[in-house]
Amino acid sequence: MSKTEPQLEQIQYRFPNGFWWGSAASATQTEGAAAEGGKGKNIWDHWYEKEPNRFFDGVGPEKTSRFYETYREDIQLMKELGHHSFRFSISWARLFPDGKGRLNKEGAAFYNRVIDELLAAGIEPFVNLYHFDMPLALQQIGGWENRQVVDHFASYAETCFRLYGDRVKKWFTHNEPIVPAEGGYLYDFHYPNIVDFQKAVQVAYHEILSNAKAVEAYRRLGGDGKIGIILNLTPSYPRSQHPADVRASEIADAFFNRSFLDPAVKGEFPQLLTDILKEEGYLPVMEEGDLELIKNHTVDLLGINYYQPRRVKAKEHLPHPDAPFMPERFFDHYEMPGRKMNRHRGWEIYEKGIYDILINVKENYGNIECFISENGMGVEGEERFRGEDGMIRDDYRISFIKEHLKWVHRAIQEGANVKGYHLWTFMDNWSWTNAYKNRYGFVSVNLDKNGERTIKKSGYWFKKVAENNGF
Ligand code: BG6
Repeated sequence: MSKTEPQLEQIQYRFPNGFWWGSAASATQTEGAAAEGGKGKNIWDHWYEKEPNRFFDGVGPEKTSRFYETYREDIQLMKELGHHSFRFSISWARLFPDGKGRLNKEGAAFYNRVIDELLAAGIEPFVNLYHFDMPLALQQIGGWENRQVVDHFASYAETCFRLYGDRVKKWFTHNEPIVPAEGGYLYDFHYPNIVDFQKAVQVAYHEILSNAKAVEAYRRLGGDGKIGIILNLTPSYPRSQHPADVRASEIADAFFNRSFLDPAVKGEFPQLLTDILKEEGYLPVMEEGDLELIKNHTVDLLGINYYQPRRVKAKEHLPHPDAPFMPERFFDHYEMPGRKMNRHRGWEIYEKGIYDILINVKENYGNIECFISENGMGVEGEERFRGEDGMIRDDYRISFIKEHLKWVHRAIQEGANVKGYHLWTFMDNWSWTNAYKNRYGFVSVNLDKNGERTIKKSGYWFKKVAENNGF
């Protein structure tokens, strides 16, 4: 080794002892076996049957990355990469094919095996209950629009706590609950492809209520672990400090961040959001006792997914008065000149955003225990970076992670209560309507070779980071 080459052991950014190094995934995106093992259909299976053209290259959810069959080998790979923890989600329709009623024992047994296999590999399972995958039978009665579904979710959650709570000590009720509301009821990128602000508000409200009910069930059953929620927090930056731009950013923040963050962590809704909904006539239907339930059942742990910031400016053109009501009635999106982009995904890369979120959580949310539950970079055509030795050299992913981790490190030094970092994702998976276009994993999945796994350069690098607790 030449003198100028950096020593691998030189650790510039050391993280607190016990920092959780790992990754995250979700059921529909990895399991495959969509019609096997007694699983019922969910909205993705159904939407794909109806409109395959909506999915990149016409690839649907039926096979995805085959984790249902290969979980043993995949967990061995996680172990090889030095993972301390791994977050996955339970497929509601695999456990309850109709969303309620009859439990599918084969599905229940599958998650038992996954949990046991993780524990045997020394990896702590973090289990999420809802990741965009409404059972079709429940969507047919309105999905989250229907209050009964809130109770079905609470019973499903309770079943999971009873089945797996002896071994699982980190639970999450929802992953990015705003996405089913905005994707399914505002912006047409999830089923049921409705554009209706009133319904979106009701859906979001029911998800918040379902979070509180699941937390209530967990505590009632004497759960001795932690229960949390995973939110995609997108800091809202105003174009300028002009009061109208600042106001626009506050409103965007209320709609897209505080709508879930405040009730989940503080047990109350932000006044600004409530005022807007009231004034515009879009308050959700609530029942007596709801607000008290939400107040008394806040989470112990906050997962933060961070990919991109949201930049906004004051409105430049008034919307047509008859156009459907949208949050964008109050702000315009702002494309900052010179912003750094991940062009494959069309998302801005702004590393400091992760720090701003953590400091906000520290200062305004009681410094609740939190961790980075997703962060990552989806890249198209990674095969071109595969060397003769078969390894994909994803140096861009390594620097993406590093630059974010530097800001996480700084937030920790300033007192943020952040306990870990999970990459999205462990192995390349199915990205909803983007299917396999953009790859995010530490491990590549070769669809032409029956899903063959190979560890990417970032995977080996991350192993060192986990071993050294820093880099
Ligand atoms: C998060 C989700 O929004 O981002 C994941 O929790 C998703 O399910 C990930 O896959 C990356 O986004 P996308 O749309 O590129 O898959």
